[in-house]
Amino acid sequence: MSYKRTAIFGAGAMGTGIAQVLAVASMDVVLLDIKTEFVEKGLKKIASKLESDVKKGKLAPDEKDRVLGRIKGSIDRRDVKDVDLVIEAVIEDRKIKGDLFQGLNGICKPETAFATNTSTLSVTDLATLSGRPDKFLGLHFFNPVPAMKLVEVIPGLDTAQEVTNEASAAMKSIKKVPIVVQDCPGFLVNRILLSYMNEVLLATEEGISPELIDNEVKKAGFPMGPLELSDMVGWDVSLHTFPILHDAYGERFPSLRLVQKLNDAGRLGLKTGKGVYVNGQIDDEFRGMVASLSPSGSRSPFSVNRLILKQVNEAVYCLQEGVAIAEDIDRAMVLGTGFPSKDGVGGPLRWADEKGLDRVLARLEDLAATEGPRFWPHHLLKTYVAAGRLGKKTGKGFFEY
Ligand code: CAA
Repeated sequence: MSYKRTAIFGAGAMGTGIAQVLAVASMDVVLLDIKTEFVEKGLKKIASKLESDVKKGKLAPDEKDRVLGRIKGSIDRRDVKDVDLVIEAVIEDRKIKGDLFQGLNGICKPETAFATNTSTLSVTDLATLSGRPDKFLGLHFFNPVPAMKLVEVIPGLDTAQEVTNEASAAMKSIKKVPIVVQDCPGFLVNRILLSYMNEVLLATEEGISPELIDNEVKKAGFPMGPLELSDMVGWDVSLHTFPILHDAYGERFPSLRLVQKLNDAGRLGLKTGKGVYVNGQIDDEFRGMVASLSPSGSRSPFSVNRLILKQVNEAVYCLQEGVAIAEDIDRAMVLGTGFPSKDGVGGPLRWADEKGLDRVLARLEDLAATEGPRFWPHHLLKTYVAAGRLGKKTGKGFFEY
């Protein structure tokens, strides 16, 4: 079945972005939230993004009106009874998402596919709660949705193959790149990205300046600094996601105190006008938060490789666990997060191949000794190095050259 009529639950940053790309691709969309004001705010956001596309000459003015005409705002779940696909992008809470899908199971047609845009929760678990596990899957978009090409497609244990195929085809039809990944906490991209974010926050808690971190990361070729990016995604999202990864993977994702402090202070990022940065600057309140966490300051000079190596090691875990194949791991990190690439080729595994896996292993061992066991190198790296597969310089590493 190809999807013509769709419904998006949640008119926040992700839900509005998804609604926009579906409507641009000629699908009809019902955009729902719990309050009319949330829906109206979401519709305004879409209209303003489309208006900016018109100004840039990317969209004809009458096409903008046609796109907006395809999106209907609603707070009434019964408006979704005829849709072919539901995508849920509400708050990262198992009970709220589970209750929503359970309710929809009684409203939607039996053939309607259900998708969750969860960042970290188990797709199989939500599928079970929904009551239609064979028609349920994860469709995980990246922020800002109109700009990021990747959609992770995540079948649960009982998802029918044809549902995965249809959803992947639908993502191609909206000009996204679908990559099928295994259902595990954080899936592929958030596992790797949040492993690095976790290290960024530990470095920040040590007193290393956010500007230094963001600048060094951008100098290394990433499109945004990690703290700017977190301000964009929202610290409320981080508050929900980090503990899930900590529970799943233990000390590779140590607990963070700064995220709670930012939330307690209402500093959720761009959505509240204040996050790590306020108008691009660090203010006294933020400095005070960090000082209360790290009275003795940073232990060692900062190197951006400390952060990138966290991505590399987690990527190796994902490879070894079969979350995705090496090509897809790298492609997903380039398309979902802008990991540095040349002509579209790049990503953490290729980065490691370029550096030399022997050097990567040695550096991880040093970091494990100085920073802690969260840097413990994955055993696959040791196997590769022992076998002389050192990356580009020997013609074979994670890839062949
Ligand atoms: N909302 C919608 N569209 C936006 C946008 C926003 N906030 N910011 C930028 N864009 C669009 C622009 O309109 C532009 O679109 P067109 O090409 O159609 O004109 C495009 O993005 C590029 O924008 P710019 O040229 O102005 O800016 P840029 O070159 O600096 O790129 C960026 C902006 C694409 C956001 C880039 O900085 C980037 O790739 N950043 C990394 C983003 C990232 O890592 N996202 C993943 C976050 S994690 C996540 O989302 C998972 C989760 O579960 C929470």
